Parts: sequence; structure tokens; C-alpha cells
Amino acid sequence: MLTPAVLPSSLTRVVPWAHALLAPALRPGDLAVDLTAGRGRDTLFLFEQVGRSGRVVAFDTQAEALQRTAALLSGAGAAIHQHGSTGRADLTAAGIHLFAAGHQHLADCLADAPQVVIANLGFLPGGSPTLTTTAATTALALEQACALLAPGGRLAVVTYPGHPGGEVEAATVETLFFSLPPARWQTLRLAVPNARGAPLLLVAQKS
Ligand SMILES: C[S@@+](CC[C@H](N)C(=O)[O-])C[C@H]1O[C@@H](n2cnc3c(N)ncnc32)[C@H](O)[C@@H]1O
Repeated sequence: MLTPAVLPSSLTRVVPWAHALLAPALRPGDLAVDLTAGRGRDTLFLFEQVGRSGRVVAFDTQAEALQRTAALLSGAGAAIHQHGSTGRADLTAAGIHLFAAGHQHLADCLADAPQVVIANLGFLPGGSPTLTTTAATTALALEQACALLAPGGRLAVVTYPGHPGGEVEAATVETLFFSLPPARWQTLRLAVPNARGAPLLLVAQKS
């Protein structure tokens, strides 16, 4: 249950809102997916919810991002399992399963149903702004995430329409969320209406 004590203090920073809205869907021992590991902060959030008995599967295409995530999570006490390529891997062990792969290969890598999937799109903070997520591969990953998600599970996507390519990607994500049948999906869109190009949060819960 969401309580006032865990609500983010800033209205306009949407990543803390994503975490606040995902946390109630996770329990110790659960499986969660981070579609964009980046600096590992979202993976760390997921690990803090599922604990040492749970599993977090995380993807990134950049070695720097995977190294940062592994360092952050091992420092937090998580077991790290590296998977160098796509395809079925042994994901039975608790801990963080890092795939050096694009998230569009999610369904090739994962057969189990995650309770939560997060996709914090865009580029690696502090990294090259040209190495960014793209509308086409993001759409593939989100379609697979929707199919895999466990009943009662939640998907959160943070889009960044303010950077080059980000507007097209944000529109693609919104189109996907608009198409989710309301009989099977509850959806939520959090935006900052008075800041042009501000990040946008979309959340969906599967029945
Ligand atoms: C905004 S960052 C993610 C932030 C991260 N979740 C964190 O907590 O620090 C976006 C990341 O997406 C990664 N990325 C780009 N294309 C990708 C793809 N096709 N599959 C997986 N990751 C991708 C980038 O390398 C970058 O690290």
C-alpha cells in the first residue's frame, strides 16, 4: 500500500515517482527487469525491493553501463551474474543477471514472468548522447515486456522527449500505452505540463 511517507518530495522528478509506483508491486524473492541498466540506480531500486532472495534481470548495450551497474550492485551486496550475449541463460540463481544485449531481445533471454519491468529511456547520464535508446527497439522490448509481465505486475517507462530522437520515441511509447485494452490494463500518465520537453512517466498494471 502506498503511504504518504514514501511519496517523492519533488513533483517534477519522474524517476522517483516511477519507483514509488512500482514498489507496491514487488515483494522479497520476486523477479524484476530493468530494460536499461545505465548507471544501475534503477537496478539498485529493484534489488532493494526483491532482496537477496530475488532476481533482477538487466540489459544494456554499453560496457560502461554494465560495469557501473555491476559495481553499484555488488557494493550493495548483490550477487552478479554476467551474460555476454542473447539467448536462454540459466537465470535460476538469486541476484542480478546482467545481459550485454539490447532489450529488444528480452523474450529470447527470459521465459519467466516478472512482477515489474522498468525502462528509463534515453542515454547514459554522463555518456555519449548519441548512444541512446531508439523508438523501434524500445517498441519491441515493451511489447515483449507486456506479454511477459505477471498478472498484477507493473511496467513503468520514463521517456525524454527533449533530446534528439526522444520526441519520436516518447510518441511511440505513448501510442503503445494508449493501445492497451482497458479491460486488462490500468494505465497512468504523469507529465510536467508547464515544462516543454520534460521527462514523462507512463505506468501500466496488468490484470
Ligand atoms: C537513461 S539511461 C538508463 C538509466 C539507468 N536505468 C540508471 O538507473 O542509471 C539509458 C541506457 O539505455 C541504454 N540503451 C540504449 N539502447 C539500448 C538497448 N537497445 N537495450 C538496452 N539498453 C539500451 C544506454 O546505453 C543507457 O545506458
